[in-house]
Amino acid sequence: MSPKLFPYLILLTLASIYLFSSLISLHTPSSSTSQLLSISNCNFFKGKWVFDPNHTPLYDDTCPFHRNAWNCIRNQRGNLSLINSWKWVPRGCHLPRIDPFRFLGVMRNNNVGFVGDSLNENFLVSFLCILRVADEGARKWKKKGAWRGAYFPKFNVTVAYHRAVLLSKYQWQPKQSEAGIQDGSEGIHRVDVDVPADEWAKIAGFYDVLLFNTGHWWNFDKFPKEKPLVFYKAGKPIVPPPEMLDGLEIVIGNMIAYIEKEFPRNTLKFWRLVSPRHFYGGDWNQNGSCLFNKPLEENELDLWFEPRNNGVNKEARQMNSVIQKVLQGTNIQLVDFTHLSEFRADAHPAIWLGKKDAVAIWGQDCLHWCLPGLPDTWVDILSQLILDGHGRTGRL
Ligand SMILES: *[C@@H]1O[C@H](CO)[C@@H](O)[C@H](O)[C@H]1NC(C)=O
Ligand SMILES: *[C@@H]1O[C@H](CO)[C@@H](O)[C@H](O)[C@H]1NC(C)=O
Ligand SMILES: *[C@@H]1O[C@H](CO)[C@@H](O)[C@H](O)[C@H]1NC(C)=O
Repeated sequence: MSPKLFPYLILLTLASIYLFSSLISLHTPSSSTSQLLSISNCNFFKGKWVFDPNHTPLYDDTCPFHRNAWNCIRNQRGNLSLINSWKWVPRGCHLPRIDPFRFLGVMRNNNVGFVGDSLNENFLVSFLCILRVADEGARKWKKKGAWRGAYFPKFNVTVAYHRAVLLSKYQWQPKQSEAGIQDGSEGIHRVDVDVPADEWAKIAGFYDVLLFNTGHWWNFDKFPKEKPLVFYKAGKPIVPPPEMLDGLEIVIGNMIAYIEKEFPRNTLKFWRLVSPRHFYGGDWNQNGSCLFNKPLEENELDLWFEPRNNGVNKEARQMNSVIQKVLQGTNIQLVDFTHLSEFRADAHPAIWLGKKDAVAIWGQDCLHWCLPGLPDTWVDILSQLILDGHGRTGRL
């Protein structure tokens, strides 16, 4: 090597070290500009779980918004602190943890609504318990249509859940015998595909951010052959009667049309994909179990969830392809919590349900999630998407 080149080489090395370290600093939340950059360019939904003993929950079993069956600290779920030491690390960027003070500060005088099934309620409870860290005066809030929620007086913010498991209006219609007697054991579940459930039909003006979901109710064990779902449109049964997944597609299409027509354009709207179940060795009513102490490996996921493998946990991906298709081209942002949740076979309440006979009657709960737990990561992601959406639209 020519000795003349040597100083240039040193310079080059120094320059690349500088470049490299400034690249790294893009991914750390040290300055707010770099944080914004990494957020808008970040796909939070792909990544991996990394064990980190410093990652601890923001709340405990004393949060007043808990639902007993998900309060895994109180119910003494084994190894819970181990289970909650996993941190989601998106590929190529940094997922900041929610700062409840900053979040509620930005959301001042605004309201966040969840609409859908118990997986959205599970999500809500996590959200409320985390936000309460910034406002201990948080109190329960309930209004007509709202199943449950909380009001944060320091910030004048309401966060609530509207229970509508299929999103459409649906009701049990017992079969009438010729004598006009109803015995209640036979009948149909009538779903009006073009009518939103009363619980959320009139909430349009109230919320600035809305998150919709529907999922595990679109299943034959909720609506067996003797008590089937029957789809109605404009008051008449649809012929030929759609299959369950076709019904899901029709309902979501109609609900989106309603949302786009009735809800203000500048309401931030999200739709979350389906939360995966983890029944191992049988379905929920066949002693299916989820007594795991660590997340699944990436290469196990297809085995568990791929519809082509026809396992008991295939439904989330099946429904997701329907939902993704219908949501294309709408102004509703898709939120994919499915993939990151698929890993977490260890994060369900399983047999620790806080009630003596619950497992004997209902089986293990491998569907909902322990709190604190996985939904806290959903909160980290959703809060970033809300802040990011706020930055783009200047809405809140
Ligand atoms: C806790 O985890 C360890 C290691 O995976 C396991 O041996 C033990 O059985 C677990 N305890 C419970 C109560 O699940
Ligand atoms: C609280 O927020 C609502 C909007 O959700 C607004 O109408 C009301 O004026 C706010 N109250 C105060 C005291 O700022
Ligand atoms: C579930 O386990 C119980 C007790 O071990 C057993 O009696 C029952 O037959 C099992 N059920 C199924 C569907 O395997």
